[in-house]
Amino acid sequence: MINVAFVCLGNICRSPMAELIFKQLVNERGLSLSFNISSCGTSDCEEGNPIYYPAQKTLSAHNIAGSHTARQITYKDIKNNDYILVMDSSNLLDILRLTCGEYGEKIFKLCSFTSRPRDVADPWYTRDFEKAFADIYDGCKCFLDYILKEKSEALGYDKRH
Ligand code: 4NP
Repeated sequence: MINVAFVCLGNICRSPMAELIFKQLVNERGLSLSFNISSCGTSDCEEGNPIYYPAQKTLSAHNIAGSHTARQITYKDIKNNDYILVMDSSNLLDILRLTCGEYGEKIFKLCSFTSRPRDVADPWYTRDFEKAFADIYDGCKCFLDYILKEKSEALGYDKRH
């Protein structure tokens, strides 16, 4: 089992988009049983809220279904996941502050797996949900390719049992 948590600030736009996109990509490969995929926010400002409507609408326009309820990250999330994938440098700093610098080896910016490492622009401020979707989709696709190479043995084992 590979445990992956996507993290942004509020957990109502970028990280739930990433969670649902990545679930779909994993599902398309027939690998759902090999992954535990979640998302959360560094802040509690949107705790209990559903996915922000423009983000949900953008997902639907790309035929990606699903829902999510926002929640704040805990120390346990960091300890129990194999990969913590954040959307931008500010999320990265917030998490490292929470862990006092520990667990840095499993915390990555999502788009660092792409051929063009970058932050996912925050659509809360840009209002460009399509651009956020494109960045997140690129990041998720490249991260899955990385995992398929890195963890091919473990994934093959999971598929056989
Ligand atoms: P997210 O977007 O971090 O992608 O979920 C935001 C949601 C809420 C706020 C900022 C960004 N906010 O300031 O309330």
